[in-house]
Amino acid sequence: MDKLVQLTRIAFSSTFSFYVKAHSFHWNVEGRDFYEYHKLFEEIYNEVYGSIDDFAENIRKLDAYMPTSYHTLSMLTRIEDENRVPNKDQMVQELLMDSEKILIILKKNYDAAEAAGEHGLSNFLAERMDAHKKHAWFLRASIKEQQ
Ligand SMILES: [Fe+2]
Repeated sequence: MDKLVQLTRIAFSSTFSFYVKAHSFHWNVEGRDFYEYHKLFEEIYNEVYGSIDDFAENIRKLDAYMPTSYHTLSMLTRIEDENRVPNKDQMVQELLMDSEKILIILKKNYDAAEAAGEHGLSNFLAERMDAHKKHAWFLRASIKEQQ
């Protein structure tokens, strides 16, 4: 398969699993600051979910098909599943590490899109990097110990 298509499918699938994880954390978070984290995770999953359709259509624009099953998505994603219910600090830490991983995946995808002259796709990926950078900032700031 074309390298750019494969990288874009990996970036899509990783984004999709990040979305699923953030939404499940929104549902499962508990603790004294429940509402604050419930809302933080909601803001993140909503923003990421809002990119999913455009992401998929960018793959179709490359004349490639979208993964059609959970199985295929799980083979492509680089984000590890969370099968437990972590505590809220662990949730934030995990989403932060996943955000940093997604930033690396998106950058690799961006470089391949630029090299292929697919500037529409690279623009889209640059916007996604910016959005995930912001998510990483919010997550990092919410677990930082104050001086
Ligand atoms: Fe909700």
